[in-house]
Amino acid sequence: MHTIKNITCIGAGYVGGPTMSVIAQKNPDIKVTVVDLNKTRIDAWNSDDLSLLPIYEPGLDSVVKEARNRNLFFSTDVDKAIDEADMIFISVNTPTKTYGKGKGQAADLKYIELCARQIARVAKNDKIVVEKSTLPVRTADAIKSILNNTGNGVNFHILSNPEFLAEGTAMADLENPDRVLIGGENEDAIQALVNVYAKWVPKAKIITTNLWSSELSKLVANAFLAQRVSSINSISELCEVTGANVDEVANAIGMDSRIGSKFLKASVGFGGSCFQKDILNLVYIARSYNLNEVADYWQQVISMNDHQKQRFSSNIIKTLYNTVNGKNIVFYGWAFKKDTNDTRESAAIYVADHLLDEEANIIVYDPKVSAEQVYSDLDYLGTRGPEENRRFVTVVNNPVAASKGAHAIAVLTEWDEFKSLDWKSIYANMFKPAFIFDGRNVLDKNSIVEIGFSYKSIGK
Ligand code: UDX
Ligand code: UDX
Repeated sequence: MHTIKNITCIGAGYVGGPTMSVIAQKNPDIKVTVVDLNKTRIDAWNSDDLSLLPIYEPGLDSVVKEARNRNLFFSTDVDKAIDEADMIFISVNTPTKTYGKGKGQAADLKYIELCARQIARVAKNDKIVVEKSTLPVRTADAIKSILNNTGNGVNFHILSNPEFLAEGTAMADLENPDRVLIGGENEDAIQALVNVYAKWVPKAKIITTNLWSSELSKLVANAFLAQRVSSINSISELCEVTGANVDEVANAIGMDSRIGSKFLKASVGFGGSCFQKDILNLVYIARSYNLNEVADYWQQVISMNDHQKQRFSSNIIKTLYNTVNGKNIVFYGWAFKKDTNDTRESAAIYVADHLLDEEANIIVYDPKVSAEQVYSDLDYLGTRGPEENRRFVTVVNNPVAASKGAHAIAVLTEWDEFKSLDWKSIYANMFKPAFIFDGRNVLDKNSIVEIGFSYKSIGK
């Protein structure tokens, strides 16, 4: 039986950082080292000032404080950490391919392959390699083939252990997961990882499967969650034309225990690093096996989400008398959901892009997202040059001042603080009629309308 003394995690991102912090916190007898190629990121993880950690996640700072430099270490020395480890988690990013075969759909596995090659080159003793990154089903085959062809006599066991944490609630999800999923072929290796989690997760919640079921389950879980959001968003459009209220419909259907109440919140569209990427991946895999009906079915979840984002921005333009040229539109929120500074695939980016096409000025306020990040998201889209993005988009840190001379406010993220802003002062600052487009249905319509705003929400 393998006893784990040293764990290394390659990739100190939104998944690797919080997951390893909790594993270290709960396993003080195991040395956990998180490595990353990005030195700035590692320096931030090592920062004395915990407000400078590279990712914002409620509750993360206290766990890092407890475990860091006790048995949790952050480093850029990847070779040394691989050499020392009995168990290596691969938690590097797997973005959608932007080139070649599978462009725009397949996951780019180049970082995964680089990790496998580095492990193969450095390893001198047997190791368990754990896929933490979300991967297409059967990726373990490729990793296995790279690791097992080094000819240095080292034995590798591959496990799949997908992460189900959601950003903003990552610490609670890690502390108290619905389940931990471990896929593998070698019983000893599986048991070694079970033991790491069993320090705080009840055994009944740790399920083990074969490798392929585990890899596929992660994609399917995200696809099902995203599908619920697209389903309710499709109904939101129907509500708007029939006089039904989407929140009332969601509540009514969600109380049916067979349906359940979660992931039924209509919105401007889902974002985040996972949903779109994983569905595209599922579609790509289905198509590669010629399962075209299956692929088309899941593709529709993405199409509906694109439609929802487009519909939101089109509604702003239509309501503002069919032109936003030169008008000031204030965005409250840029992150893809509240309580995170992550902006990957955030609906705000696409809504902004559409409004910029129509030559609007955009003023962004988000409590956790930096100006640098907003510009980098727009530059990455490549619709227009960096100078233009900086000319037409302003990022501010005072939400009330942001509304001075604004024609409309668009709520793009459901940050709690937006509910208690000084809406009277905001109204006074704005051109009349003063429009609010609530892309998250978070504001209290009655009090907003009483102040004088013209208020539009989703699905009502
Ligand atoms: C994770 C998962 O790994 C991904 O599969 C999942 O679908 C989304 O979440 P995440 O932690 O959010 O990724 O990604 P990111 O915050 O980008 O962190 C990945 C880190 O890996 C980066 O800090 C990057 O510098 C590092 N990296 C990448 C390496 O250290 N080595 C590499 O070869 C590539
Ligand atoms: C998701 C999965 O939930 C998690 O299990 C997996 O490990 C990673 O992907 P995450 O992307 O961090 O987590 O956040 P999630 O809470 O799932 O929200 C995703 C997007 O859907 C957000 O933009 C959110 O605003 C949106 N959403 C969610 C809705 O619009 N309505 C809902 O009812 C729920």
